[in-house]
Amino acid sequence: MVDVILGLQWGDEGKGKIVDYFAPGYDIIARFQGGANAGHTLYINGDKVVLHQIPSGIFHPDKINLIGNGVVLDPVVLKKECASVTALGIDVTKNLYISERTHLILPSHRALDKASENAKGQNKIGSTLKGITPAYMDKTGRNGLRVGDILHKNFISQYVKLRIKHQRLLDNFSFNEDFSSWEDDFLESLEFLKSLNIVNGEYFINEALDKGKKVLAEGAQGSMLDVDFGTFPFVTSSNTTSSGVSSGLGIAPQKIKEVFGITKAYCTRVGSGPFPTELHDARGDNLRKLGNEFGSTTGRPRRCGWLDLVALRYACMLNGVTAIVMTKADVLDTLEEVETCESYTIDGDRTDQIPFQMHGLQIDPAFTKFPGWQTDITGMKRFNELPEQMRKYVSHINSYLGTQVKYISNGPGSDQIIVAS
Ligand code: GDP
Ligand code: IMO
Ligand code: MG
Repeated sequence: MVDVILGLQWGDEGKGKIVDYFAPGYDIIARFQGGANAGHTLYINGDKVVLHQIPSGIFHPDKINLIGNGVVLDPVVLKKECASVTALGIDVTKNLYISERTHLILPSHRALDKASENAKGQNKIGSTLKGITPAYMDKTGRNGLRVGDILHKNFISQYVKLRIKHQRLLDNFSFNEDFSSWEDDFLESLEFLKSLNIVNGEYFINEALDKGKKVLAEGAQGSMLDVDFGTFPFVTSSNTTSSGVSSGLGIAPQKIKEVFGITKAYCTRVGSGPFPTELHDARGDNLRKLGNEFGSTTGRPRRCGWLDLVALRYACMLNGVTAIVMTKADVLDTLEEVETCESYTIDGDRTDQIPFQMHGLQIDPAFTKFPGWQTDITGMKRFNELPEQMRKYVSHINSYLGTQVKYISNGPGSDQIIVAS
């Protein structure tokens, strides 16, 4: 049996905290896509930890954490992450596993990411520059190198061949930054990678399922950044939606049961691209301040706005969400009013559907206003303790979406979560 946790917005919904919260109920926690563009924040005994590639169940020593074949893995980042996790008392040689089919991010992928973004000028995507797109391009272009390849003695010659291809592309971009020190780090980190558990991920996970083990699949980014269904081209390069679980882990779709969709009580986006409910005024700045909305991976300020129910219902449909987890509800505690967007008007036509292409369109969102609850909810433990105005806000969301908010997160701490009844 496989359950899924994934983001319903543009990422940073609080997936890391929620995976850590649910991890005790599972045997294996497995990342199925993305790479070091992700930043998943957890608090472990009061210490803040940001994980980029390691699944967020790693602090449960009795749980297996698997980096799936759908991930693109930067071994340099992995080595650093492992060092910080080890410093907190976790033995990664025991509970971290990596699929041999996982594609590697090379230093030249990172250089290509930067060169390509620079070349886009005004139209840049706002990539995290972690080499994600070039690595996925090499996967679909059938050039990439995989974790399993590092165990073979011809790896270096394969690496050099690909590196030469990349150099030609970099020359086309007139990119001439020296990244030889990254390459030294890369080659060194491969030795570390070899010391970890490299497995055939698809047999590993299916044999565990056959034995009745429970798997929690952890997504990165969010549904509106999905390469097929997000705000293309301002998206990432993987399927962030639940379809990515099957291809990213080698699990048949009928094995997937619960899909927990994570949404903030409002909305954020980091990087460029359409964001219909963005607040360009002091209210947006206030949300950024209250929610401490700065990127976990890049430190960039996140763009902030009201909850977009049009986009959220679309994400519920795409993912087959069975339960919603609403995070950062406490961030709205002091506001006099909160709003949700119920439809868009585009060129005079009202719609409650996400259009084929969102950029370049004048989208006017229609909002519904709710009185704020103006109560500190951070210490609350039960749903019926929550202020009535907030419960009304949640019940409006439930009825618009036709999917229930079943958990409400009321602070960053691992114990700050309320089961909605
Ligand atoms: P992820 O990428 O989806 O895992 O989310 P990030 O870790 O990038 O960003 C979420 C941020 O919100 C982190 O700083 C979390 O510590 C914080 N956070 C998560 N849940 C809550 C919550 O319910 N309330 C508050 N105030 N902060 C939260
Ligand atoms: P988590 O897992 C928020 C955004 C980038 C950029 C676009 C493409 O922490 O929610 P990429 O590096 O993939 O080429 O960037 O996607 N992005 C994220 N935004 N959270 C993330 O991950 C993100 N990963 C990528 O800002 O707009
Ligand atoms: Mg994040």
